[in-house]
Order: sequence, then structure tokens, then C-alpha cells
Amino acid sequence: MMLIADLRSALGEGSVLTGVDIGARHSSDMSGTGTTAPAAVIRPRTVEDVSTALRLCNEAGVPVIAHGGLTGLAGGANPSGNEIAISLELLRGIEEIDVASATMTVKAGTPLEECQKAAAEAGLFLALDLGSRGSAHIGGNLSTNAGGIRVIRYGMAREQVLGLEAVLADGTVISSMNKMLKNNAGYDLKHLFIGSEGTLGVITRAVLRLHPPPGEITTVLCAVASYDDVVTLLRRAQGELGNIVAFEAMWREYYDFNSRALKLSFFAEPHPFCVILESTEGTSTIEAFLAAMMENGLIQDAVLAQSQAQAREIWSVREGHPIEVLPNLLNFDVSLPIAKIGEYATACGKALHARWPSSHNSFYGHVGDSNVHICVSVEYGPGEDMHSVDDIVYGVLKDYNGSISAEHGIGTLKRPYLHLSRSAQELALMRSLKAALDPKGTLNPGKVI
Ligand code: LAC
Ligand code: ZN
Repeated sequence: MMLIADLRSALGEGSVLTGVDIGARHSSDMSGTGTTAPAAVIRPRTVEDVSTALRLCNEAGVPVIAHGGLTGLAGGANPSGNEIAISLELLRGIEEIDVASATMTVKAGTPLEECQKAAAEAGLFLALDLGSRGSAHIGGNLSTNAGGIRVIRYGMAREQVLGLEAVLADGTVISSMNKMLKNNAGYDLKHLFIGSEGTLGVITRAVLRLHPPPGEITTVLCAVASYDDVVTLLRRAQGELGNIVAFEAMWREYYDFNSRALKLSFFAEPHPFCVILESTEGTSTIEAFLAAMMENGLIQDAVLAQSQAQAREIWSVREGHPIEVLPNLLNFDVSLPIAKIGEYATACGKALHARWPSSHNSFYGHVGDSNVHICVSVEYGPGEDMHSVDDIVYGVLKDYNGSISAEHGIGTLKRPYLHLSRSAQELALMRSLKAALDPKGTLNPGKVI
């Protein structure tokens, strides 16, 4: 390809990898659904290099796909074989922490955990947090508008962004490195790039909003008898306890599977629901709240973590890595009104079980954010594949006006179902935006819309 030679001469020999030099990891995101390596991987070190690369690819009409930590779960970074993957891994590092303004200026290829640590060292707090913090890049977190475990208190990735720099398909650099919380000077362009999964531009830098440290977080695992009680507990915790920084629920099948595999036992008997509640209130206030909720029967049993290590153990059940060994495991991230999640889970579980009596299906997730995850593992029969499961999970969801993606994005995996969550008018406007920003359609083609 002429283009490869042009990229090599523009970016330097070592910045363009082809053939066996492309690591296997560039073939798929963490959903494991990708099968093909890209045509080449380029590793720019500067925003100017990203701009040059995009311009050259656009002129050649060759598609481009941005690669960050590859921890996505929607196939949004999966190559189809003919693209140039722009890996942002060398565009890494924190440029500035402005303590007085409470902002962090960071390059897209910086791992989330590195940003969290740097904020903490400066006496501040970066409120975005999720299980893959060690390998996920901040650029990927923003381009997918990642959610995670602190959304209930601080909002999604989008809410942590004050400024953004992104490069358009033709190489134009749009630098909106704003540090102010308030700025109503026209369209807020950064939101075009946040959550659009690399289809409208490649994010290169960001100004993140930092918060005061939340103070000491106490983790409690509560056993609860019904979904309605889970919701009542959520509202009473927010109203009477306060400073809730996480509220996660695990349905019994999910909790049992993972706690057994991890050999962790927190309760003497099984319970329909286990809730992780985190608050920054003082321990005695939390204990008094728990005692009152046990008295009125809303909580059946509770464990207040006595150490960081015990809190980690509780979260390890929620993170649920043991479940990943199940065959053909699919992980959904639907959202629907909080009041309806229990009913939906029951209906969805029943429908899956009716079709595949020996399937594993279990529910867990960020109930406080109206987001539930579903793990489904089935042995496919003849003519069946993952879309047979999608049809049931999304088919039942349609009756509840839910969203097919609360936080993981659309990528390739949910693209056939986007019309279930967006109107024809919304889809048409998305296509107009795509055409305006990327008229040749070279940015992450085949993803989202
Ligand atoms: C989680 C990921 C799957 O919440 O979104 O664990
Ligand atoms: Zn999640």
C-alpha cells in the first residue's frame, strides 16, 4: 500500500506496524468478538502525528479505527481487516494538574488508574471508576462515555469532562481545551466526540474536572428479600443516610455463582438480593441506619467491611470474574426505569429459560443508575448465535421502553438493534452528523450507525 509508505515517511519507521509486528491484542476488544487484525497499527506520539495520519488515510480513502486500552465490550474497536488502527498508547501522560481550578489536563492514551492516582496525589479526586481501570485509557473512556461504579454520585464520563481535543477525519484538530465549568459560547462541541465511539473524531487530549476527595468510603453488603425492597432501601439510604457513592445490586444467581467460585461467604443463608452500598458518612451513622433497616425488615442481614481487604472481597463478587469462564458468555448493559428493573429481570430470565432450559442467566449491576447487566451463557443449537439471545433480551426490553446500552455503547454488537432505542428521526440526525463530520465515512466505519 502506498499509504503505508506515506505513513512511515511522515511518522517514522517504528511508528507503523504491519504483519507479525501487529500484536494479537489489536484483533478484538474485551468482548472477544473480533477476529481480524487491522491492516496496520500506527502509534503516533503527538497530536500533530494523529492529524497527519488521519489526513493521509482520508486522502487515500482508507478507514481508520482508534485503539485505546481495548477494554470495550461492544465490539466498537474490532477491526474488519482493511483499517489502519491508530493506537493512542504512546500519546500518554498527564500534562498538568491545576489544583486551584481543580482540573487535570491529560493525553488520551493515559490509563484511567494513572489519572486517578495523580489526582489523589494532588489532594483531589477523579470521579470516574470502573473495573478495567488498570488498562482502560481515558480516551476510550470518553469516546464511549463510560459509566462505572460512581455514576450515582458523580455522573458518567461525560460529566467529568470540561475540555476536549479531537481530530476530525480530514486531520483538522478541534481543540476545545476549556477549563471552566460554565461556558455557553455556542454549541458544546466536545459532546459530539464523547460517546460517539470514534465515529466522529479521534480524541487526543482532555481537561478533566476533579472533585474534593470524598473522604473515607465505607462498604456494606446487605441481604435483601425482594427487588421492591432494594429500591426502597436505595431511596431511604439516599434520604436518611446520605453521601451514597455506590449502590449495586446482585440477583441471587449472580451472587451465588461468584461467591462460591471465589470461596467467599458473607451470609449464613442465601438471599434473593445482595446490595453493595457505599457511603462516606461516619461508621456510627451507617451502623445506626443499618440497625433501623434491619429492625423494619428492609435488610435481612448486613456485613460492614472491617478493612480495605474485606471491601475488596465484597467488590470481587460484584466484579464477577469467575463467571467469565462460562461458554459463549454474553454481557448485556441495558437500562430502564429503576422501578421496572425487577419486573424486567424476571420476564427476561423466564424468556431465556423457556428457550434454553439449561442456560445460565444472571442479573447484577448499577441499579442506582437504572442500569442492569445480564450475563447469559447458552450452548447454541443449529442456526443459533448470539443474536438469538439478543432478540430475547432486547425483545423483552422493548416493552419497557428501556435502552439497549446504558454504558458500554453500541459498537458492532448492538448496531442491528439501535432502532429499538432511538427513533427514526434521531437516527436520521445521527446520520447527518456523521456525514457532516466524516463525509468519506473513513472513521470507524460499520460502528454505531
Ligand atoms: C461492570 C461492567 C461489565 O459493571 O460494566 O462490571
Ligand atoms: Zn457496568
